[in-house]
This record gives sequence, structure tokens and C-alpha cells, in this order.
Amino acid sequence: MRHLAGKVAVITGGGSGLGLAMAHAFAAEGMALVLADIDEEALEAAAEAVDAEVMTYVADVTSYDYMVGLAAASISRFGHVNLLCNNAGVAGFGGVLDMTLDEFRWVIDVDLMGVLHGIKAFLPHMMTHGDAHIVNTASVSGLLTQPGMSAYNAAKFGVVALSESVFYELQLLKSSVGISVLAPAWVQTRIFEADRYRPGATSPQGEIAEIVRPAMVELASNARLTADDVAVKVVEGVKANHFYIVTHKGVLPFIKHRHEDIEMLRNPSVDQGLG
Ligand SMILES: NC(=O)c1ccc[n+]([C@@H]2O[C@H](COP(=O)([O-])OP(=O)(O)OC[C@H]3O[C@@H](n4cnc5c(N)ncnc54)[C@H](O)[C@@H]3O)[C@@H](O)[C@H]2O)c1
Repeated sequence: MRHLAGKVAVITGGGSGLGLAMAHAFAAEGMALVLADIDEEALEAAAEAVDAEVMTYVADVTSYDYMVGLAAASISRFGHVNLLCNNAGVAGFGGVLDMTLDEFRWVIDVDLMGVLHGIKAFLPHMMTHGDAHIVNTASVSGLLTQPGMSAYNAAKFGVVALSESVFYELQLLKSSVGISVLAPAWVQTRIFEADRYRPGATSPQGEIAEIVRPAMVELASNARLTADDVAVKVVEGVKANHFYIVTHKGVLPFIKHRHEDIEMLRNPSVDQGLG
């Protein structure tokens, strides 16, 4: 979608972090916005802060009904939706053996099923007018695996696979709707506070969580790119119709190394940097 001015973007997780940064970047392009989030207070603050025509909608992406309601409300307000950013997400750290099934399932429900719900709720409408693009927020954790992040890895690899499948399906259907998958490395946002929404408010404990969580917090606090930097790359990616939006070029050699492990049938050997 070469031109964004005058068009309508819907962003899930629009109240904070990368979603809010995208809202500012799209507003600067002259787009109208629908910001959706589970956090009503954050949504109201975001709507105040963004310089654009904004509609807010409280929605939990784990509920398909909420996402259908979001699509209907967006179309009713603006007539159509051009850009959908399935961005809401949570992080979860912990060893597979330490995490309960509910703790694991919560990450899959938000990070993977939330994206699927967005696609199914909006894509039929977007295909009717064709001037449309979807951006699904995965992560470098959808291209590389880490210990202590199995639920997040499984969800984010799922987002990459789902997005690639939809890319091919849109080609088969000769649709002009574009699709991208966003795969940033660590950026400072509220992602490490994601437990605020965790049902039952428990987070996984255990030796693996104790090693991995602080290492990831430190990586994020040393992040070179800001959420605004990532949002600029999203705008560029949508305009250029790039499928893979990999924002941190430093990860590319690690991705190549992983792919070589597979090609050469080697055991996984990417350096995790966890000491
Ligand atoms: N921050 C990073 O380093 C990083 C790196 C790679 C990918 N990501 C991905 O970026 C996306 C945005 O995360 P962020 O870093 O901006 O974190 P964030 O916590 O600052 O923002 C996430 C937003 O999603 C909302 N949210 C959480 N659960 C929800 C639900 N069930 N329904 C609707 N909204 C919900 C939160 O209220 C919050 O406003 C996530 O998908 C995350 O996995 C983040």
C-alpha cells in the first residue's frame, strides 16, 4: 500500500509500546486510527496523545467475538479498514517443566490465536476493496529459539508460519491485499510487565525462569532501537510491500546459522548469549 494518507489503520495492543509507536507513525502519515487494547486506561491516554482522528475500542484479542465486534465497529465508524496491525502480545518466561498448561496456553492464546482472530475478523472485508495490508507482530523469537521462552517461541513461530501461509493464499486468490510479519529483537516497552494481565496473576517460577528472565530484561534495557524506530520500519515495510520486516539487522547472521543447522542436519547451535 504505497499511500497511507486518508486511510484507516486498526492496531491491537495500541495502548502501549510498539502499538502506540505505530499509532504515532501512522498519524504522521495522515491516517485515521482505531486503537484496540485490553487496557482501557492506556487506550484513553493513547487517544489523547496521538494527533489523528482516533476511535478506541476495548478488546481482548483472545476472544474471537471481541475481534468481530472490533471489525464491525471500525467499519461502521470509518466505512472501511485499510491497515490491520495484529500487534497485541505478552511475554512468558519459564521452563517447559515448570510452566503449568494454563500458563503456557495463555501465551499461545494472546500471541498466536489473537493474530488468527484478527485475520479472520478483518480479511474478508479487506478483500472486498483490496486496498489493504495486514501487519502481524511476531518477534525475532519467531525466527530463533531460546531456552525459557518455549511458549513465546511456539506462538511467534506460529505467527510467522500463519503469515507465510496467508501470503501464499492471497497470491493463489489473486488478491491485492498485502501482508507483512514484523520481527523485532528486544525494544524497551512494557512487555516485561505483561504478567499484569495473566489470568490468576501468577508467573512461572523455577531455575530456568530465574536464569532467562533477568538476561532478557538486560538485553531489552540495552536495546539499540526504540519503539519509534521500529514503527518507522513498519511504515517503510507496508509502503514497499515487504513481507519480512526484520528491524534489527544484527540478528540476520544468527538466523542464517539456524537455517544452516537445519540444512546440514546439525543439532541446534545458535549462541544464546546466556553464559
Ligand atoms: N518489546 C519487545 O522487545 C518486543 C520484541 C519483539 C516483539 N514484540 C512484540 O510486540 C508486540 C507489542 O508488545 P510491546 O513490546 O509493545 O509490549 P507492551 O506491553 O508495551 O504492549 C502490549 C500491549 O498489548 C496489550 N494487550 C496485552 N494482552 C492483550 C489482550 N489479550 N488483548 C488486547 N490487548 C492486549 C497491552 O495492554 C499493551 O497495551 C507483542 O506482540 C510483542 O510480543 C515486542
